[in-house]
Amino acid sequence: MKTKDLLNIAEKYGSPVYVYDAEKIISQYTRLTEAFKGVKNLKINYACKALSNTSILKILNNLGSGLDTVSLQEVQLGLLAGFKPEDIIFTPNGVSLEEIEEVAALGAQINIDNLSILEQFGALHPNVPVCIRINPHVMAGGNTNISVGHIDSKFGISIHQIPHILRIVQNTKMRVNGIHMHTGSDILDIEVFLYASEILFETAQHFKDLDFIDFGSGFKVPYKEGDIETNIEELGKKLTKRFNEFCKSYGKELTLAFEPGKFLVSEAGCFLAKVNVVKQTTSTVFASVDTGFNHLIRPMFYNSYHKIENISNPKGRERFYSVVGYICETDTFANNRRISEISEGDILCFRNAGAYCFTMASNYNSRYRPPEVLWYNGKAHLIRKRETFEDLTRNQMDVEINIIKKEKELIK
Ligand SMILES: Cc1ncc(COP(=O)(O)O)c(C=O)c1O
Repeated sequence: MKTKDLLNIAEKYGSPVYVYDAEKIISQYTRLTEAFKGVKNLKINYACKALSNTSILKILNNLGSGLDTVSLQEVQLGLLAGFKPEDIIFTPNGVSLEEIEEVAALGAQINIDNLSILEQFGALHPNVPVCIRINPHVMAGGNTNISVGHIDSKFGISIHQIPHILRIVQNTKMRVNGIHMHTGSDILDIEVFLYASEILFETAQHFKDLDFIDFGSGFKVPYKEGDIETNIEELGKKLTKRFNEFCKSYGKELTLAFEPGKFLVSEAGCFLAKVNVVKQTTSTVFASVDTGFNHLIRPMFYNSYHKIENISNPKGRERFYSVVGYICETDTFANNRRISEISEGDILCFRNAGAYCFTMASNYNSRYRPPEVLWYNGKAHLIRKRETFEDLTRNQMDVEINIIKKEKELIK
């Protein structure tokens, strides 16, 4: 997408606004499937928590992707976007048995990550095959909030509890058709990934009736020029070889599954915001934009880096700015960042805004959530409208309040 196209979108739909480039999603999906083309049965299940607009889901469905979901509502969105139930995997954490049963009734693949639910679900539904999420106890991921495979993590069933899993499976006569792990996001080192995969292969040997092994996700994408990213091509080569060897020893052509979120959509998205105020203090120049962590929480939440460009003055002299939001708390997108000279009214473009940005947006400070625009076939398509005041009040119920009147009556 060209700068001119982004400026036109900001002009037409107002700011702030999310913009997604369909071409980038397609090229990332193709890159991943190419890297694993040596695997006979490959299944990419897009982790839709990253970005769940149904138009984005439709793109992935068209490409042949499956869907990784964590809530009944994500499953319902997937079905609405055209995914077949059997192409949806449900990988929740800490949800109720009832929610899992509802999803199972819709026909999606269930993935269970604790012994209590495994036992209850197996006793009630021995004919529904389940996948089991294993915790391989590997420390991986770019930040403690997104490292989920370590020993203290709430996710998955510990590899040390395999005997217990096997006892439940034997007693309930349930069928385990898949083994899964997901150790964290932003994993740089493919050796860590391969190491955790070996643990998964070892675990898989305990289960004789598998259809697939799901290696989760966690691929790191670049956030700025020269940034390191997961070497997907090298991982593809190494893991394909090990996976094919494993299938031979297991005696069955299993499916190799992944569930990437960020890898597929992070770089496809950008977030456009307008500069309301340029404020020079004794130490800093602040650029205050017409948005905040209510719309883009990742910098405040994970300390994550989003490249910021002044697309209204891309060739301007670079100066140092702290880019801040309008929320009445600390609300910092970037500190002392070199950006081409900013004037009030300029449009700033935040890169890598496809994953975990809109889906984490809220109405904090009673602000409307922004619109989403899809750039597809050289044209902008509005795929979500900006919220309105009715959206803020729609579910509120009016109660008659009479405090002042009662006080007056007491005084009498
Ligand atoms: C179970 C599971 N699978 C897949 C993902 C997607 O991870 P990423 O966006 O890093 O690819 C997540 C992210 O939180 C997850 O929890």
